[in-house]
Parts: sequence; structure tokens; C-alpha cells
Amino acid sequence: MVRAPKEPIEVDDEVRLILGPTVHGGHSIAHPLGHTAFVRHGLEGEDVTVRITEVRSKFVRADVIEVHEPSPFRVEAPCPWARSYGCGGCDFQHVDVAHQRTIKGAIARESLQRQAGIDVGDLIVEPLGDVDGLHWRTRMRWTIDGAGQAGMLGFRSHGVLPVDECLLASEGITAAQVTDTDWSGVESVHVTEDSRGEVSVWADRELVSGPRKAKQQVRDRTWEIESTGFWQVHPAAAASIVEHVLGLGDPQLGESWIDLYAGAGLISAFLAEAVGVTGNVTAVESYRSAVRDGKRALADLQQVRFVDADVERWQFPDHVDGIVLDPPRRGAGLDVMKSVAAAKPRTVVYVACDPVAFARDAAVLTEAGYALTSIAVLDAFPMTSHMECIAKFEPSA
Ligand SMILES: C[S@@+](CC[C@H](N)C(=O)[O-])C[C@H]1O[C@@H](n2cnc3c(N)ncnc32)[C@H](O)[C@@H]1O
Repeated sequence: MVRAPKEPIEVDDEVRLILGPTVHGGHSIAHPLGHTAFVRHGLEGEDVTVRITEVRSKFVRADVIEVHEPSPFRVEAPCPWARSYGCGGCDFQHVDVAHQRTIKGAIARESLQRQAGIDVGDLIVEPLGDVDGLHWRTRMRWTIDGAGQAGMLGFRSHGVLPVDECLLASEGITAAQVTDTDWSGVESVHVTEDSRGEVSVWADRELVSGPRKAKQQVRDRTWEIESTGFWQVHPAAAASIVEHVLGLGDPQLGESWIDLYAGAGLISAFLAEAVGVTGNVTAVESYRSAVRDGKRALADLQQVRFVDADVERWQFPDHVDGIVLDPPRRGAGLDVMKSVAAAKPRTVVYVACDPVAFARDAAVLTEAGYALTSIAVLDAFPMTSHMECIAKFEPSA
């Protein structure tokens, strides 16, 4: 397609156009006045009017303000704040929940194709038991405005919106009624619900109510972790990730495995049960309290060794059968991926919450002689553009 030459464009300009595909971040691609635009609240093929919200040298941002011809997949957003100039938390409330998964599958596929030259074909994104995609968030952060009112931030904004109820929050978190309290003098309120349904409310770093430690149960094992420390947000995510990692990695009795970015050892625990006492699992994690909580929760598994270290600075052992890595959103990066490949495991299982960072890391592994042989994608964050990819890599020759 020949694109029109660029014409001057400014914030608040309104342009009528047809939206292109949805990309990473949940934006539709469009070309107002010859510019590349990332558009919120749209769907591919829709005839809409957008308002320009930001102008950068290489692209602009825009938001849909009127839909002239809707996509068949457009629905009424359940939350009144999920709209143009509304809350920044959800990208896809205006999209049918099943179609959200189709879009996420296409984004993951396109990321791997573009960043790593890997074609995985059409990806089926698995729901985590959600029917309506609501009330699954077991960890929430509210920002407090100048009047002491808890609210949500707008998209790419420091402005606090008076969102009185977040429809993604778990029922226990909603029952804590954070928005009914005067939080004057506080910057943010953090609320978590553990797997027993116990809710902890923190104002900045002070515990206001509920237990200091959250109890999280997966299969027959329970962790007692700092309630503000890392744990999977969707209540079904931890068990599903474990099931996929074990299914893809197929750890065997007597094997040596490494769990990088291990948190409190969610994955290490079940790898350890699979490799048994004749095998071993090394869990590498840099957040001290996660290491402490993990050591306590896995104390009965003598084959697990926790290492309190930065993965980037850690010396990989000479022999390893399998490596699992579950890095933060930015991915593991070039040096760590080179070290993973250099350790020559028979299997690498990569758990990723950002498909683009994952695809960049996948490119390093494939360059180093590994092939992506299987992938699962979980809809662990309904109503948002986020997803969890779990992929298996094996030596290609
Ligand atoms: C996505 S979480 C995964 C945790 C765990 N696999 C789970 O599912 O509960 C990423 C973890 O990596 C840790 N982390 C981040 N950067 C790290 C680094 N450079 N070295 C070691 N651990 C790191 C974080 O503290 C966090 O616990």
C-alpha cells in the first residue's frame, strides 16, 4: 500500500480512518495524515474518528472518539472508565473476550516472526477458566490523589481518575473498599488477596490490615511469602504455569535443572519433585526476601539449592540437563541467553510475560543452535493486552 505523504499533525487533531491490525501493547495501527499511529480502543477494520493524543518524531498516539462502522468483535465495555481518556489499566474491555485471545495469539506469533524469524503458525491462547474476564486480579495498586482519594492512573498519565470500583479486582480485594477510605498523606495503596482469600492492605510501606505474609497454595504445597512480594496475579496462573513447564520440560529422575528468576521457588518445587533426591535443582533469585521465603517453603526438598544472586553475574555450572527461566518483563537479555545456550541443556523452558522481549531472547537462543519446538500461550491477564508465553527450546541439530 502506498502511504500518503506526511502532513502536519498536532495533539487534539481529529481524523477519520480505517484501523489496521492490533499490535503489542493493544494498539491498532493506523496512518492519519501519513503518520504511523498507535491507536487505543479500536479494532482492526473499523471506520472510526480518532483524536491525536501525542506527537513524537517517528509516530503519533491516538484514541478512538467515535466509531462509525464497528467490528463484529466490538462489545460494550463492562467498566465505564475503559474508554478514551479513561483508565490506563485495561486495553481490551471493548473487545469480545474470546476475540481478545485471538488478538493475543496473533501478537505473539507476529513478535516471534519479526524479532526471531520463527514461524509458530496460528497460536491458540488458553483461557484460565475465565468466562467474562473480570474479577481475577489478586494484586492491585491504587494511586492516591491530592484529596486523599484512591483512584487509577490514566493511560501514560500521572492524573488520578476517581475509579470507584475496578472490575478486574478479585472479590476479596473489592470487599476491602479501598476507595471508601480517606488516604490523605499516602502515595499509594497496595492490596493483595492470597489463595486462602485473606486480604492485606498496605499504605505505602505500612501494613494497614490483614496478614503481613500471604499464604499461596499450589497443588499440595504452601508458600508463606511477603504479601507485597512477587506472586502470579491471576489465581489460576501459578498452577497452570507449573503444569506447562513440567509438560514441556519433562524433567526426569536424577537430572540437574536450573530455575532462573526463581522467585520463591514456585517452579523449583515441582522440578525438584520430578528429579527426586538423586537429582538437583538450583534456584537463582536476586530478591532476598523471596529467597528467604522460598528456602522456608522448600525446606523438605533437600535437592533444591537457592542462590541469592543476580542471574547476569551468576556462574553457570558445567553440566545441566534443563533450564527454566521466567524473567521480568524486560526479558533476560543477550548475555544471559548466551550463557543459557553455552550451558548446553537438553531443554530450555522460557516463561515470558512480554512477547516482544521473549522473541528477542528467542532470537539469541536460535542463533546459538536451539530451536523453538513447542509453545503455549495463556490468557493470564484478561481485558489487557498482556499474556504469558511458555516455550520449549531444544538443540536444533
Ligand atoms: C516473573 S518473576 C518469576 C518468579 C517465579 N518464577 C514465579 O513464577 O513465582 C521474576 C523474578 O525474577 C527476579 N529477578 C529480577 N531480576 C533478576 C535478576 N537480575 N537476577 C535474579 N532474579 C531476578 C524477581 O525478583 C522476580 O522474583
